[in-house]
Amino acid sequence: MIKFDSVTYVYPTGARALSDVSVEVGKGELVALMGENGAGKTTFIKHLNGLLKPTSGRVYVDGKDTRTLSVAQLSRIVGVVFQNAEDMFFLPTVEEEVAFSLRNLGFSEDVVQKRIDWALKFMELEVYKKRSPFLLSGGEKKRLALAIILAWNPQVIAMDEPTVGQDSMQKEKLKEMIKQLSLQGRTVIISTHDVEFVAELRPRVILMSRGKIVADGDADTILTDGELLRSCSILMPQVAATMSRLTDLGFNAKVISVEEAVRSIVKRLMEIEHTRRA
Ligand SMILES: Nc1ncnc2c1ncn2[C@@H]1O[C@H](COP(=O)(O)OP(=O)(O)OP(=O)(O)O)[C@@H](O)[C@H]1O
Ligand SMILES: [Mg+2]
Repeated sequence: MIKFDSVTYVYPTGARALSDVSVEVGKGELVALMGENGAGKTTFIKHLNGLLKPTSGRVYVDGKDTRTLSVAQLSRIVGVVFQNAEDMFFLPTVEEEVAFSLRNLGFSEDVVQKRIDWALKFMELEVYKKRSPFLLSGGEKKRLALAIILAWNPQVIAMDEPTVGQDSMQKEKLKEMIKQLSLQGRTVIISTHDVEFVAELRPRVILMSRGKIVADGDADTILTDGELLRSCSILMPQVAATMSRLTDLGFNAKVISVEEAVRSIVKRLMEIEHTRRA
């Protein structure tokens, strides 16, 4: 669905934000882009809908070279929710914000109304339909930005730091929503510093550092590699850190979810009890 082929991106200031990045993301994959501040995550995401075009190398979206398509054309395939959701808004009501892009994409008026209702309900924003988007809380603005994107049903959804500013309840909902989108076959790419969120979501993790991809694998492998994470200024999830300190006692250290940690602890305790009795 997405292919980066030796992509280098240098900002006009001379900052080299992506350096020879090659990676493929398949249809329906769930990916977390992680890495320190300035690693290149946002720059990567901006290449998905053509806001940025590679300085050298190629980005392909659904087989098409992004240099040959406009941002509007690419946006039909890739919906991007940026970190500053507010920058997207300019209309008097929540409802009109959602309607605007749908009308732009040429949907008929009854489809527009159905999609608005569905998207606002999905993001639990129906009660704010007639309210100004600027009067929403930070977390609600983020949800509105996501509702706008979901309304036009793009195949790929990319979210830059979606958990920032969300309370634990909303994070939980966001996690379920991302899982649901993924189960429906959408390709979902999120950039985040939130290790705990990633540990619960268990996506494929692409770890970036200084414009390069330094690791690519499943969350269980990457998030239990203390040395690798430290080199990218990321802390292990708390469960993984706790379990890794218990390795000497025979517990399985490569664990990132609470459920697995509990299972591993119970298993080990039963083994100890069994040995004691024998
Ligand atoms: N508009 C810009 N002009 C010049 N340099 C930029 C611009 N945006 C980003 N950069 C530089 O490019 C590099 C990558 O930045 P990017 O925003 O992609 O990182 P990031 O991984 O998203 O970081 P963060 O976790 O802080 O959001 C950084 O060195 C940054 O200073
Ligand atoms: Mg960023």
